[in-house]
Amino acid sequence: MSTDTAVCFSLLPLPRIHFGPGRLSLLPGICSEYGRNVLLVTGRGALQRTGRLQQLLDAFAGEGLNVFQVNVLHEPSPELVDRTVSECRNRVVDVVVAVGGGSVLDAGKAISAMILQRHPVERFIEGRQGVIPHDGRKVPFIAVPTTSGTGSEVTSNAVISRVGPGGFKRSLRHNAFVPDAAIVDPELMTSVPAPLTAASGMDACTQLLEAYLSPFGNSYTDALALSGLERFGRSFMAACSGGASDVAVRGDIAYAALMSGIALANAGLGIVHGYASSVGGLYDIPHGTLCATLLAEATRVNIRKLRQIDGAHPSLAKFAKAGEVLTGEPCDNVENGCARLLDRLDSWQEMLGFPRLGEFGVQDAELDAIVSITRSKSNAVVLDAGEMRNILEARL
Ligand SMILES: [Fe+2]
Repeated sequence: MSTDTAVCFSLLPLPRIHFGPGRLSLLPGICSEYGRNVLLVTGRGALQRTGRLQQLLDAFAGEGLNVFQVNVLHEPSPELVDRTVSECRNRVVDVVVAVGGGSVLDAGKAISAMILQRHPVERFIEGRQGVIPHDGRKVPFIAVPTTSGTGSEVTSNAVISRVGPGGFKRSLRHNAFVPDAAIVDPELMTSVPAPLTAASGMDACTQLLEAYLSPFGNSYTDALALSGLERFGRSFMAACSGGASDVAVRGDIAYAALMSGIALANAGLGIVHGYASSVGGLYDIPHGTLCATLLAEATRVNIRKLRQIDGAHPSLAKFAKAGEVLTGEPCDNVENGCARLLDRLDSWQEMLGFPRLGEFGVQDAELDAIVSITRSKSNAVVLDAGEMRNILEARL
């Protein structure tokens, strides 16, 4: 497992990362390093409602920057990326800045990757027919997350989807797509509503746990994942309730999401994210919600399978360690640690009421077909089709 690979591993590049309350003020200055013309990608309007968009535009103007703004209202589709890129064809764009949730960051990342290309984005998406390799040429990109979840501010991929029958949810990926800079300012997250905080937070938690248990992890990704789980565990419920406006609480979850992004980019992800790609392409389920509803059951099935293979499997000790770190309570043996992890995930599921798959139209008759198109080569353990089905069945 990962401790053996610590002497031999590769790491992706990181952006310049600016983390902490008030760090948003650095954005205009960083943009001006790249030129005067900014393409600003934003989301549904939370920035407007809080008055932060106008503050930001004033700050850009004060720095002498020209801003062209586009809005992203959904998880990015090929059509959205191509349309926005074509709108920018006759403009000078020196830098793309995305300020928003995971979908906005992925849209900005994809737009920055496509402005200098002649082909439509679908030609470059992993797993699509007739895919051609991207040469890595892009416009500089700065990511500013306003939710804590995907970790897109530090990853090399943008998730693009076309949802529905025959749909897909897949990545546009290149090492060059790692953002040039990331500004993670917890003050931006204090107004995120509880359901979105819960769903996006569970995405980060899933990424931390799946990267920590990945066979492709190493001591570096393990350390990041554990520190993220610790901060996540101590502040998640507070962020979803009375501590929502507490910058320190939001900072813990933002830190967890940031660590999850670095860990996943270098270690890979497990079965829950396999389903995020397959189920997420077929049904209109927000990514965080899908992670939230599947994580506890997937963890239970993974632990059960590991016990069947070998009661002393080293990955069981890692699950136990995750339980210890997530709850902040030391455990005297592996059995107790695993039980504590499952208890905590079950209790979050119950208290926060994550919606079931059936609420989005997923039916029992479709599960075998879903399982057949689901891939999870970085899962903690190899699951057979029946075990994979059990995860979905339990959350129908
Ligand atoms: Fe995710």
